Amino acid sequence: MGNIIPQDYHISRKQRVKVKHHNSFVIWFTGLSGSGKSTLASLVEKELFEKGIHTYSLDGDNIRGGVNKNLGFTASDREENLRRIAEVAKLFVDAGIVVIGAFISPLESDRKKVENIIGARDFVEVFVDTSVEECEKRDVKGLYKKARSGEIKNFTGISAPYEKPINPDVIIETENTSIEESIKKVLNYIMPKLKLTK
Ligand code: ADX
Repeated sequence: MGNIIPQDYHISRKQRVKVKHHNSFVIWFTGLSGSGKSTLASLVEKELFEKGIHTYSLDGDNIRGGVNKNLGFTASDREENLRRIAEVAKLFVDAGIVVIGAFISPLESDRKKVENIIGARDFVEVFVDTSVEECEKRDVKGLYKKARSGEIKNFTGISAPYEKPINPDVIIETENTSIEESIKKVLNYIMPKLKLTK
């Protein structure tokens, strides 16, 4: 580490943001498996993309098939999973992109670390609040069933903890909010942050 000297490049984030005509930051969806994070994240991205915003989505299940394929679901593997993702997201923000992230990110301490890596100004936390009972009832991927039978260990909400965010920027209670309303709620929060110049 001591022999590594950061290199400066000519093009700054400020210049990248200027040509894109909008600010860059991370919209981070946290919630249980099956809470609706990815569905909501994907629709929010679509809306932004259609408005001409430069976006990119990072998603737990996808990242775990590549960059993080050597990591599992122990507390320390989840911490490392989220640390790497935060570093990647930070690069995208530097590139002038609005990053949409959907990760269970179950612990407040890990989410704080993510926020610290990315920088609080560039981090929007969206809590997709769906009860474990409802997620288990939906069980879209059949994982809750496997967790109950013991086939999957350390399963969030069943045999591993999920700590609700203390002070999220947006809360979506999916059990009594329509998808359209949910998208609108997220967009209402982030539109001013985009600081559109076109
Ligand atoms: S995190 O806890 O490290 O933030 P991440 O969002 O990357 O999790 O991955 C969660 C996805 O992995 C879930 O949507 C689910 O499909 C899958 N998965 C497999 N095993 C587990 C487990 N033990 N706990 C939670 N999710 C799991």
